[in-house]
Amino acid sequence: MYFAKGFLFLLPQTLLLFLLQFVFSQDTITISKPIRDGDVLVSKGENFALGFFSPGVSTNRYVGIRYYRAPEQPVVWVANRDNPINDTSGVLSIDFQGNLLLHVEDRNQPIWSTNIVTQSSNNSTHAQLLDSGNLILVLNKTSEVLWQSFDYPTDTTLPNMKLGLDRTTSLNRILTSWKSKDDPGTGNCSYLLNTNSSSPELFLYKGSILWWRSGHWNGFGWSGVPPLSHPNYLFNFSIVNNQTETTTSWVELLPEIFSRLVVDESGSIQRFLSREGDQGWFSLGSAPLDRCDNYGKCGAFGKCQLQNDTEFECTCLPGFQPRSPREWSSRNASSGCVRKRGQASICKSGDGFVKVENVKLPDSSFARVDEKLSLKECEQQCLENCSCAAYGGVDAKEEVGCLRWYGELIDTRVLNGDQNLYVRVDALELGTQQFSGISGNFFLPCLHTMSKEKIFYNSY
Ligand SMILES: *[C@@H]1O[C@H](CO)[C@@H](O)[C@H](O)[C@H]1NC(C)=O
Ligand SMILES: *[C@@H]1O[C@H](CO)[C@@H](O)[C@H](O)[C@H]1NC(C)=O
Ligand SMILES: *[C@@H]1O[C@H](CO)[C@@H](O)[C@H](O)[C@H]1NC(C)=O
Ligand SMILES: *[C@@H]1O[C@H](CO)[C@@H](O)[C@H](O)[C@H]1NC(C)=O
Ligand SMILES: *[C@@H]1O[C@H](CO)[C@@H](O)[C@H](O)[C@H]1NC(C)=O
Ligand SMILES: *[C@@H]1O[C@H](CO)[C@@H](O)[C@H](O)[C@H]1NC(C)=O
Ligand SMILES: *[C@@H]1O[C@H](CO)[C@@H](O)[C@H](O)[C@H]1NC(C)=O
Ligand SMILES: *[C@@H]1O[C@H](CO)[C@@H](O)[C@H](O)[C@H]1NC(C)=O
Ligand SMILES: *[C@@H]1O[C@H](CO)[C@@H](O)[C@H](O)[C@H]1NC(C)=O
Ligand SMILES: *[C@@H]1O[C@H](CO)[C@@H](O)[C@H](O)[C@H]1NC(C)=O
Ligand SMILES: *[C@@H]1O[C@H](CO)[C@@H](O)[C@H](O)[C@H]1NC(C)=O
Repeated sequence: MYFAKGFLFLLPQTLLLFLLQFVFSQDTITISKPIRDGDVLVSKGENFALGFFSPGVSTNRYVGIRYYRAPEQPVVWVANRDNPINDTSGVLSIDFQGNLLLHVEDRNQPIWSTNIVTQSSNNSTHAQLLDSGNLILVLNKTSEVLWQSFDYPTDTTLPNMKLGLDRTTSLNRILTSWKSKDDPGTGNCSYLLNTNSSSPELFLYKGSILWWRSGHWNGFGWSGVPPLSHPNYLFNFSIVNNQTETTTSWVELLPEIFSRLVVDESGSIQRFLSREGDQGWFSLGSAPLDRCDNYGKCGAFGKCQLQNDTEFECTCLPGFQPRSPREWSSRNASSGCVRKRGQASICKSGDGFVKVENVKLPDSSFARVDEKLSLKECEQQCLENCSCAAYGGVDAKEEVGCLRWYGELIDTRVLNGDQNLYVRVDALELGTQQFSGISGNFFLPCLHTMSKEKIFYNSY
């Protein structure tokens, strides 16, 4: 697992660190100073190192960046992940075009390259490993960054690293898992920001299957990943969604910590934390959390709530019933739920909303977002449009911001301390048929029909 080869494997890690630190203190690659297998590039503050390594039991050689002072020196980026070198003759150098290039001695064919096209960079670029873990290729003359490893992530994000789309270059940064612990090759789990939506969410895919989503952006963090969806002393999350980019990133709020987020080959995302001198890394939590976290577990208009091993976790949202009671009774909720009395009875005839408490709000990809509307205005907007199926607040306190759903409600789950969903139901469901003829806002006091709902659906 260590960068250096041969006898260095036998040395204790501390001594090894000392030796490496002593022998190689360079943080740049220039045309006259390439690095060879066995050399290590160390960032100025010694946070990160770059060099050749073999993962797990593999003997293949890869160029990678790893945490340097942190415990276990985890690899955070790999250059030639799908194109390993089978011996120790690898050289990482700057070529005459100014590209950073990996090749093996006595062979011209590059194994990996930054592959940028420049007009006048002949002999005039250098690469530098920064203390952020970013490897940058810089044009000497202007100091312009021509390429950076942060734009081509492997399976890990670090603080200040963006995921998502740069619209000016069409560059979309996504994470993809390793194939296995022994093979950093492109695996089949990916983690990306859905950049098509006015309410972008992070999606985890297992192959082509949408496996998990982060929940909507609540103004501070991703609503489906408590407790980090609320202000905390460790991280500050951010999102940018405008004409030039749709991206998300995070920063550490404490100076002395190391952290990273990794998507692994089993389809799990984990956030790790450590400090200098710690024995290892501490997992701050992983996603998916449990089987209710699997995307669309209970189908359209369903709701997932883990109770105990004997109870089926799926129920229908208020006003809905299983599309196929037979499938439902065999604990298959994939066909979801439908309105009890059909769509016809629903609109402008005494309908209103039922509050479903403490849920991760449904997939907001096709929801409408109005950052400025209050919850009351949100309700009004939803009520006025017959195709509005539900609404909810953007932030957990429901102070400002409005999400409205016009199609199916997918992937709603109970998540304590999270948000409330207000689902449109007909007059009958509101339990107000005796008041028929009375319009609109009188239905608010009737938001407490939830307990009834529960009793009914628990019988499935
Ligand atoms: C190593 O890879 C090269 C091509 O990249 C190949 O020609 C050579 O046979 C391989 N050597 C071994 C020992 O597999
Ligand atoms: C770099 O220099 C070589 C040799 O002078 C020249 O053939 C080549 O066109 C140059 N490349 C660029 C991108 O300017
Ligand atoms: C680039 O530098 C190398 C060695 O320093 C030199 O041999 C080569 O002629 C230079 N190429 C250009 C285009 O300046
Ligand atoms: C480019 O800049 C680096 C770092 O400042 C320097 O070491 C290198 O010699 C420069 N390359 C050329 C061709 O001037
Ligand atoms: C976003 O839109 C593009 C182009 O229409 C499509 O290829 C891509 O799958 C969409 N992404 C998501 C996450 O829906
Ligand atoms: C993921 O990769 C593994 C091994 O490479 C393969 O067995 C599995 O079928 C893949 N899964 C999907 C969903 O592509
Ligand atoms: C978090 O970031 C936002 C903007 O990105 C900034 O306004 C805010 O002050 C930061 N919070 C902390 C605690 O650093
Ligand atoms: C988008 O946001 C980024 C980051 O805040 C900013 O640099 C950029 O200028 C914005 N673009 C537009 C078109 O507002
Ligand atoms: C599971 O939960 C249901 C409803 O809360 C309850 O009726 C049932 O007794 C529980 N079963 C067990 C084994 O705890
Ligand atoms: C669940 O039902 C669907 C049809 O709605 C069917 O395609 C699927 O195979 C069923 N799943 C299981 C596990 O039986
Ligand atoms: C209701 O909302 C949908 C989706 O935003 C929109 O297409 C439709 O025109 C709206 N209908 C009315 C009557 O406003």
